[in-house]
Amino acid sequence: MKYKEKKYQPVLVKEEVLLDYRVHQEKLNKNLKGTKKDYGIFFTPEWIIDFMVDLVDTGSIIDKEIYVLEPACGLAQFLIGIKKNKPALSKKAKFFGVEINQDVINYLKSLHIPDDIRIIRDDYLLWQSDLLFNLIIGNPPYGIPSSSEHYTIKVSPPTKAKYKRQYETWYGKYNIYGAFVEKSIRLLKPGGQLIFIIPATFMILDEFKKLRKFLSQNGGTAIIYMGPDVFKPEADVSSVVINFLKSAKFAKRLELLEYANGKVKTVKIATDWQGEVVKFETKYTKNIEDMCSYSLGEIYEIRISPRTSEIKNNPCVLVNISVNGKEYLPILNGRNLASNMIIYEPLTGYWIKKTEINKLRNFFSIPHIVVGLGFRKNGNVAAAKEEKCYPWMGDVYHLLRRNNLFGFSFDMSDSDVVEYLNSDYVKKYVKDMYREITYHLSITQLKNLPLPNKKEWGKIKEKWSL
Ligand SMILES: C[S@@+](CC[C@H](N)C(=O)[O-])C[C@H]1O[C@@H](n2cnc3c(N)ncnc32)[C@H](O)[C@@H]1O
Repeated sequence: MKYKEKKYQPVLVKEEVLLDYRVHQEKLNKNLKGTKKDYGIFFTPEWIIDFMVDLVDTGSIIDKEIYVLEPACGLAQFLIGIKKNKPALSKKAKFFGVEINQDVINYLKSLHIPDDIRIIRDDYLLWQSDLLFNLIIGNPPYGIPSSSEHYTIKVSPPTKAKYKRQYETWYGKYNIYGAFVEKSIRLLKPGGQLIFIIPATFMILDEFKKLRKFLSQNGGTAIIYMGPDVFKPEADVSSVVINFLKSAKFAKRLELLEYANGKVKTVKIATDWQGEVVKFETKYTKNIEDMCSYSLGEIYEIRISPRTSEIKNNPCVLVNISVNGKEYLPILNGRNLASNMIIYEPLTGYWIKKTEINKLRNFFSIPHIVVGLGFRKNGNVAAAKEEKCYPWMGDVYHLLRRNNLFGFSFDMSDSDVVEYLNSDYVKKYVKDMYREITYHLSITQLKNLPLPNKKEWGKIKEKWSL
């Protein structure tokens, strides 16, 4: 199959001069100010480009016709990086970049990059390629696609519906980078290599369970955890470099590695990965799991507070009015919650009539445990007993004790559980297991948190004096 020039109206960029990335990134960033976020435009630091280009396995590419693709190419930095650092491969390869944003392409056109790099203007997720590629490399956009102002990647409802139809890994509030990974794997030749820098969230969040399975079924996956600093201060996101080999022989192979101080070290290797959550187990986390007979989700039903958008649209909710304190209660959020303490003050500005709280969530009227989520900021899982039964909103979980078989044999009181959740033991468990992958615990992580009975809790404190 041959590349069809007319269909994609490629922009051919002339003259053989390499870019000085930093200058151009800054200039383009200034030019794009208003729309930068809508397209998820964050340029990759040059050292990361070099790091990723180093991972290209030139030895395994034996085809006569070699095709290299950078999706969401921006300034085509990866393609240029390959031309610079992999001259033998570059001599034989044909280079393609796909970019949706005309301003970015115009800027790129004004630069002097090698004219054998073809830039195609299209939405990568809807682009129909006639070629398969030996190597796909880059930094796709990140964000939840939506036309709503709450989300970063601006996509119209019909386009989003097309994405949903096309991508089998699409699930829940899917992040656009997941679809970029799926599309790229589909566009690889057998034996082809995909190298992307993406957020680390796909390792653990439920929205990516289909993507993890897709990866495990289609080849070998190496995940190099880079931590939260790569894109700072522009973006605060924990990232990984994923190095994927499309090959039936390597299906289910997973390597978890970690980058620190210029070195990469192996954390673990599995050959039977079926898309399970990818965690950093340590001796400590394994021991805590062995010592606990329960998980939090077995003893408690876990519910989340209504989101701000729901509160804003609820006709029973009033905003910043002078209310009769006897009839109304302030709606609380994460800022009202500290370790073992609830600050019953009107911090959100939202109020609701006492008699209407049940309309928001009926469990608000039952005494239960509330858990705040901001663990990455302070490393804490802040929990407290909610006995006054106030209404809540935002990122706060509610733990409602189940009446089940596990519950009967479980002898910790709610106060004991609150003490355990606020302890350094849980803090260390969460940090060891999930590093800084997300800002806060997901509901699944919370459900899976090991929970000891009284005797086990005593033994944990004896064994690990934190
Ligand atoms: C995270 S930036 C990466 C830019 C560049 N690859 C780099 O590493 O510096 C993502 C780029 O993808 C482009 N983009 C966003 N959505 C796209 C889509 N659906 N198809 C193609 N390009 C897209 C943006 O305009 C932006 O240039």
